[in-house]
Amino acid sequence: MAQVVLENIYKSFPHRTGKASSSGQSSGHSIQKRSAGGIAPNAASVGATALAIDPETETGTAQSVSVLRRINLTIHDGEFMVLVGPSGCGKSTLLRLIAGLEALTGGNISVGDRLVNDLPPKARDIAMVFQSYALYPHMTVYENLAFGLRRTWTIDESEAKPSNRPEWMERLFVSATRSLPRGLRYWSAEEKLIDRRVKTVAQMLQIESLIDRLPKQLSGGQKQRVALGRAMARNPQVFLMDEPLSNLDAKLRTETRGQIVNLQRKLGTTTIYVTHDQTEAMTMGDRIAVMNAGQIQQVARPLDLYNRPANRFVAEFIGSPPMNFIPVQVKAPLLIQHPQFRLTLPHDWEARLRLYDGRSITLGIRPEHLSVGLPAPKNIPVRVERVEALGSETYLSVSLVTPDRSGEILPLQVRIEPDRPVFVGEELWLTIAPDKIHLFDDSTGRAIV
Ligand SMILES: Nc1ncnc2c1ncn2[C@@H]1O[C@H](COP(=O)(O)OP(=O)(O)O)[C@@H](O)[C@H]1O
Ligand SMILES: [Mg+2]
Repeated sequence: MAQVVLENIYKSFPHRTGKASSSGQSSGHSIQKRSAGGIAPNAASVGATALAIDPETETGTAQSVSVLRRINLTIHDGEFMVLVGPSGCGKSTLLRLIAGLEALTGGNISVGDRLVNDLPPKARDIAMVFQSYALYPHMTVYENLAFGLRRTWTIDESEAKPSNRPEWMERLFVSATRSLPRGLRYWSAEEKLIDRRVKTVAQMLQIESLIDRLPKQLSGGQKQRVALGRAMARNPQVFLMDEPLSNLDAKLRTETRGQIVNLQRKLGTTTIYVTHDQTEAMTMGDRIAVMNAGQIQQVARPLDLYNRPANRFVAEFIGSPPMNFIPVQVKAPLLIQHPQFRLTLPHDWEARLRLYDGRSITLGIRPEHLSVGLPAPKNIPVRVERVEALGSETYLSVSLVTPDRSGEILPLQVRIEPDRPVFVGEELWLTIAPDKIHLFDDSTGRAIV
């Protein structure tokens, strides 16, 4: 077990203009040459990333595209850390850097007390599970689980009594008899250990009954469990998982989500789990790192992220349906005004609001913190556009019509009790729970706290 420390990580890729070039400099970080052929197939999205990057800071150069910038993150020993963010924000790249499948442009990665920057993947003692299961199609489940062990495992002398035959001879006997029925195979000391390890893992993942099947005889969920098992069998210091559930259907995803969390608890292996799905992040992570455009936006425990988002991006990304945002004007000491409503905030906002007197800011309120009320100046008049009754709760899409801005319409989402009847076209007054509001600075997007 080990903690993982990411220190000031930068990653740039050579620009997709014909040949890969490596002569650029990006803010003093040298650009590493990559072998041609390792370049992402999606040239358009590379360009888009370049545009999204802050021109003030590390933009990359004409020869390179900056994909990760200034990543600082410590994953504690035994922790389940989720990296979440929209597609293209650099999550997979970060995992691949940790695994050693990509070279760093700048920064340091340590696993335990070892700096692993320059170690090849095999020497890092890290196992990775990908979205595509990548099982060997011609091997049984047993062989798939054992394969990684045979390749990467060196037997600890204390674990097994080595035979007095030379190792090459042991291996030869093993591979010559491998396709025979179990009883007729040659079992070297190493093979016995591997066998024990494979069986333990299969039992933990409840795939014992599948052990003699080929991957094509398994369902998606079963394949993914075998892939997990293959990573587990190696008993690495760190698991890296890149969207391992995204090929599963919704029900299986929920189920497997629970299994992965339970297994991780049982094994206590430091885990970094990548997903674009905020529900997965919220339900699985001990802590969550929210990423956007190559940078970490906030690192916190799930409910802290939800209740105290550091900026507008996190506020919008975490939570489903997302938080509503309404432009308002501040009138000190405690009033916020919108053409359609005016709200007096609780006293603890006073000091902060004074700094914004007369300015425009953004009010954020989650769908569950709006409720249907009576006509009043502090309430928001809206028209119901759509009703989604889920049984346990009902979501309304409503619109707030802003009269002074040429009838501009602001859509809002509201969660209400399922037993209140609501019709499309109905006009309602929404009450804001004043102790649940969030305020954001319009120029920086940061939460006003
Ligand atoms: N080998 C590569 N060469 C050039 N650009 C790449 C390469 N790999 C990834 N990228 C770009 O880096 C950005 C981040 O990609 P990725 O880490 O796969 O994002 P995520 O996993 O968050 O969806 C994307 O814009 C992608 O196109
Ligand atoms: Mg990815």
